Amino acid sequence: MTVSKPKLPALTNHARLNEWIATIADLCKPASIHLCDGTQTEYDRLTGEMVASGTLIRLNSQLRPNSFLARSDVSDVARVEERTFICSRSEEDAGPTNNWMAPEKAKETLTALYDGCMRGRVMYVIPFSMGPLGSDISHIGVEITDSPYVVASMRLMTRMGSAVLNVLGADGEFIPCLHSVGAPLQDGQADTSWPCNDTKYICHFPETREIWSFGSGYGGNALLGKKCFALRIASSMAREEGWLAEHMLILGLTSPQGEKKYIACAFPSACGKTNLAMLVPPAGLKDWKVTTVGDDIAWIKRGDDNVLRAINPEAGYFGVAPGTSEKTNPNAIASLTRDCIFTNVALTPEGDIWWEGLTDTAPARLTDWQGKDWTPDCGRKAAHPNARFTVSAINCPSLDENWDNPEGVPISAFVFGGRRQTTVPLVVQSYNWRSGVYMGATLGSETTAAAAGAVGQVRRDPMAMLPFCGYNIGDYFAHWLNLGEEIEALTTEEAPVSLPSIFCVNWFRKDAGGEFLWPGYGENMRVLKWIFERTGGGGGAESSVLGWKPRFEDLDWTGFEPSKEKFEAAIRIDKAEWLNELELQRELFAKIGKRLPASFTAICDRLEERLNPTSK
Ligand code: OXD
Ligand code: MN
Repeated sequence: MTVSKPKLPALTNHARLNEWIATIADLCKPASIHLCDGTQTEYDRLTGEMVASGTLIRLNSQLRPNSFLARSDVSDVARVEERTFICSRSEEDAGPTNNWMAPEKAKETLTALYDGCMRGRVMYVIPFSMGPLGSDISHIGVEITDSPYVVASMRLMTRMGSAVLNVLGADGEFIPCLHSVGAPLQDGQADTSWPCNDTKYICHFPETREIWSFGSGYGGNALLGKKCFALRIASSMAREEGWLAEHMLILGLTSPQGEKKYIACAFPSACGKTNLAMLVPPAGLKDWKVTTVGDDIAWIKRGDDNVLRAINPEAGYFGVAPGTSEKTNPNAIASLTRDCIFTNVALTPEGDIWWEGLTDTAPARLTDWQGKDWTPDCGRKAAHPNARFTVSAINCPSLDENWDNPEGVPISAFVFGGRRQTTVPLVVQSYNWRSGVYMGATLGSETTAAAAGAVGQVRRDPMAMLPFCGYNIGDYFAHWLNLGEEIEALTTEEAPVSLPSIFCVNWFRKDAGGEFLWPGYGENMRVLKWIFERTGGGGGAESSVLGWKPRFEDLDWTGFEPSKEKFEAAIRIDKAEWLNELELQRELFAKIGKRLPASFTAICDRLEERLNPTSK
């Protein structure tokens, strides 16, 4: 339904929602308001309008039916972590790893920016459900935006539209998410193909559960269901309510005997989460099956039986395109055959898409992500390193049968992984929940292009949540510890409750010559199989300073010509490297200060003693 101002009839049956819509309309002063119904007709109309206005390019409908290319402004290509704020009342509650702004100051600053910011534009109201409609694990949001690109992307990424309003009813809870590209149009002013503003703010108010975003139209800055709601606000809700909101993919593993387990894996941005979630086992392990519940975020709640059950709050993938190919992720490539939005990839003369790594040889001519002529020898990348595809989960051939199950799926293991050229072994299983939480909390990783800023520097990225934890990271660690302790305390002989086992992996270790020690991609199945076996109490292993690790003979090498030497180098725990690593971990602990769980310092001391028994 589209209405023109000044008359503003009640758009929904939900009085509080209507009031909020009216308040925002008064502030932002759009030309009209549109309540999104989430239908294909609406999607087709909006994408058609964006093609007409130059925001989208329709791809060749023979090669890529119903698919589009968007080119963002060169200044608006990634999440802007330095412009992202947690606006809790006390600075300490945001903690040392977040930018903090007082809520009053944020509201005052943004209210001034929002005043009249939607002039000449349509204000879209998007009701969306994070998670299966009506599930006890799901939560609802409503995003107000002046970007039709956001509306179309939200339709691919979430369950969105009228059905959500039905679940919301007359007084259901929703998270208000306000977004503007911050580019009002004066009378007669021509629009640009990617309106945005140099001033950017991505603000989160955990106490009042609100999101205010201004100035960017890209990814996590603008699709507010994703990082802003499903991670930053949800992590804070989860702490208050006793659940977990994590930067984790969820995959199903089915053995040749038909036994099925689900695991949830946390990796920092652009470390291959989508590839792992859609993994195709190698020929030697082809009787194993990997199915995809989600590729980026997991919401995990305790069932009545105290088993931790997870849903993917999203309903689509916003994946990093460069590097995605038939070899690295055939299921993603199969998902992208139709009904997609690509952003900042290159365009072929035939009207199809291309990015670095899609094929071994680049096409002779392309139009690059900025719309410039491109040839392989021009010295520039054809696609932006953070170019993305946006596609609905239902396109994915490996989609798990329970991906939309309101009950969620039971989690058998948590896996934490970073991108580390050195130090961190291929895989290690923690001895218990506490040391597993420690392992996740001290994760380090090299930075990638998913966020603006330098690439390739190692930074601590606790549980891959550094840019996404909506409250003090010390409290977040304590929350993980408490959850495990509470569940463990409920275990009785008659009713044993088993917590998921915790593992740490590193696919990215290199030798002295800079060559990867582990082949990665489909071959990661060998490590997943070991994890599967270990969660059932099977699988061979040896103990180490850090935890249980596989010996060469403990991995299944069927169909692979392994090099024992490379495996040993990939799994090695080097004393000097680890003593240095512990120093870096202590730097994180010092930064966290008094909210760091006391047990962490004790674990660190013990590790140091074990590595260096003669030092004390
Ligand atoms: C993402 C990210 O887009 O983590 O998923 O940056
Ligand atoms: Mn992510």
